[in-house]
Amino acid sequence: MGIEPKKREGFSSGLAVFFATLGSAVGLGNIWKFPYLTGEYGGGAFLLVYLVCILFVGLPIMFGEFYIGRKTRKNAIGALSQLKPGSAWKYIGTMGVAASYLIMFFYSCVAGWVYFYLFKALLGDFAGITMETAKSQFGDAIIGPLSPILWQVIVMTVVAVVLAAGVKHGIEKMTKTLMPLLFVLIIICDIRALTLPGAGEGLNFLFQVDFSKLSAAAILTALGLAFFKLSLGVGTMMTYSSYFTEDNNLFATGAKVALSDTVVSLLAGIAIFPTVFSFGMEPGAGPGLLFMTIPLVFSQMPLGNILLVAFFFLTSIAATTAMLSLVEVPVAYFSEEWGMSRKKAAIGSAVGIAMIGILATLSVDKNSILGGYTFFGRGFFDWFDYISSNILLPINGLLTSLLIGYCIKRKDLELEFSNHGALNIKVIMPLFYFIIRYVSPFLLIVVFLNAIGVFKF
Ligand code: TRP
Repeated sequence: MGIEPKKREGFSSGLAVFFATLGSAVGLGNIWKFPYLTGEYGGGAFLLVYLVCILFVGLPIMFGEFYIGRKTRKNAIGALSQLKPGSAWKYIGTMGVAASYLIMFFYSCVAGWVYFYLFKALLGDFAGITMETAKSQFGDAIIGPLSPILWQVIVMTVVAVVLAAGVKHGIEKMTKTLMPLLFVLIIICDIRALTLPGAGEGLNFLFQVDFSKLSAAAILTALGLAFFKLSLGVGTMMTYSSYFTEDNNLFATGAKVALSDTVVSLLAGIAIFPTVFSFGMEPGAGPGLLFMTIPLVFSQMPLGNILLVAFFFLTSIAATTAMLSLVEVPVAYFSEEWGMSRKKAAIGSAVGIAMIGILATLSVDKNSILGGYTFFGRGFFDWFDYISSNILLPINGLLTSLLIGYCIKRKDLELEFSNHGALNIKVIMPLFYFIIRYVSPFLLIVVFLNAIGVFKF
């Protein structure tokens, strides 16, 4: 059944494109995942591998997704079907839609904790907190069971409402107003963290490179994190770039977003690790790292509670704008290909995510209701995260790089990236083309085979 495309919405300016795309990239990945994974996998060496992954795998694939989206101006599945009609490439899009749900199942749970922490900060619950009470408060918050489910439902309601409002009035408005504020807040946090006694030890941990700490699992995790950070491998960047302005410089937008995103991750690391060491906590504390350190830093400074409210408010914003981009993938798909209204697609997706997401929420900790249900050592929460970040995203990225590198004419790529000759891409284009053909797929295959044990290096 052919449904005639309605007039499509889009972002209204280059600035809106930048903030929306950055709003997608910046999220719990920077403030929650990046610090705790860097802590778990040993600091500086992990960070270095991560940066290599961003530059040689993440960024080129982001450009690839931009090409697919803006060229076709369709949702992820529609875009691939149009680009290569009748081929199996559209399953990259199908896989993406599935992965975006999988990510949302656990992401909405963590976002719920952030909203809850904001609420607790508003109530002044963190006054006089110590390391022990920070730990026990976090334990209570995630085990629930009612409160974390309630917060997850609140999170999904917010996401559905904004998405139903549309691309310009929902996504664009949210991201443009609130992204710059987050930046300021993290810097204030950094200043406080850096003036704590023992801060130097935390910085050493983050920046000192010790390759003996690097395992194959660490490398695969760094690669998965690079995809997760730049919102790749599920069709988010394809979908968003389908709303980009015609004259947007795709290479420049990608580079600016990747750079700003990395800066935010580093700033979050700089806020968290000095605190960890200063209070004698474990850098490998896992998913609770952020929730135990930040209340401690702020509770010990003048006006701490106000800053704590602001910090968790802005982390909620970061998480929310990232979720908008995740759920926009199925919303665009269902509204364009199935003729559903945006409102129905947004509400339907949110309800589905909240329902299945409860499995993640109830299996976070070994004391959670479903904490005893593990399969091969992982509960639901960890499986959703592992399958999406470490398997689906990289496979999806590999297929995208092969599609762009080998199945699209170079001339077509040049036309789109240069905006039909308006931009000079003489230097960057050959570099990009070489990397996406040879370097990114090679790295992806090596890391993947190594991690599943086909060979060891
Ligand atoms: N990049 C976001 C973060 O770091 C999460 C995110 C948004 C994402 N859209 C995505 C991850 C698409 C993977 C794919 O929090």
